[in-house]
Amino acid sequence: MKSFEDKTVLITGASSGIGEDFARLLAAEKTNLVLTARSEEKLSQLAHQLSTRYDVHVHVFGADLSLPETPAKLFHDIQKAGVDVDVVINNAGFGKWGRFDSFGNGTYQEMCNLNVNAVVSLTHLFLPKMLEKRSGGFLNVASTAGFQPVPYFAVYSATKSFVLNFSEALWAEYKDQGITVTCLCPGPTESNFHQRSEIDRKKLIGLESSEKVAQVGLDAFRKGKPLVISGAKNYLLANSTRFVSRKMVTKITAQMFSPSD
Ligand SMILES: NC(=O)c1ccc[n+]([C@@H]2O[C@H](COP(=O)([O-])OP(=O)(O)OC[C@H]3O[C@@H](n4cnc5c(N)ncnc54)[C@H](OP(=O)(O)O)[C@@H]3O)[C@@H](O)[C@H]2O)c1
Repeated sequence: MKSFEDKTVLITGASSGIGEDFARLLAAEKTNLVLTARSEEKLSQLAHQLSTRYDVHVHVFGADLSLPETPAKLFHDIQKAGVDVDVVINNAGFGKWGRFDSFGNGTYQEMCNLNVNAVVSLTHLFLPKMLEKRSGGFLNVASTAGFQPVPYFAVYSATKSFVLNFSEALWAEYKDQGITVTCLCPGPTESNFHQRSEIDRKKLIGLESSEKVAQVGLDAFRKGKPLVISGAKNYLLANSTRFVSRKMVTKITAQMFSPSD
């Protein structure tokens, strides 16, 4: 898909950070939007702003995608509203920083449901219509954390490895049927992510703006790329893991993210 103009894009996690910037950038390109996140009030304010400024249609659906029943309900509600979604941006996600046993299993189940299961479900629900039209696709937000194990972000990095592998596999399965699947891998990015993850801010170096990251993702999708890593330094770091043993990579990452340093 070369242009988002007059298309309709569903963005999960559109109430802040990278998701909000996807919404702003797309509205400026005359794209109609379907915004979802738990903070319905914030989404409604954003929708009002964007529809007034850019004269685009913006629908809002407040939803908690960590609940197993939500993807099907959201799909149903969008159909009921008569909205035809061309592209899905699977962006909503969160991580928690600390030793594995620092958080309850419920937190990890919530993370896996949101970062992994909701992505699979929404892709499965929205794909058939796209296949019929031989057009559209998915822009899935993974992370540079998905390229190797990240001690103290063990579950989060595993969920992002899933999104990375899943997206690249689907890119190959559907690229000849008019469907684009692009995986965006940001490195550290300015957003509410770090507050929710409870990471020590000292660990964060070279933060990129969420607007830049969102733009990189949209450009890669337009070009039909399977994968894009935002930022040259992040690109080098993500790829450098190939030249060292996995044991060594894991030890280095453990040092970088250890709470005791
Ligand atoms: N920031 C980084 O350094 C970084 C780096 C690599 C990858 N990423 C990835 O980028 C994506 C966007 O994160 P961000 O950095 O923009 O963080 P963010 O500002 O915290 O945004 C996360 C978005 O996800 C939504 N969300 C969280 N829990 C949800 C739930 N249970 N149901 C529905 N929506 C939910 C949030 O909205 P509500 O709270 O209103 O629900 C918010 O809109 C995530 O997948 C993250 O893993 C971020």
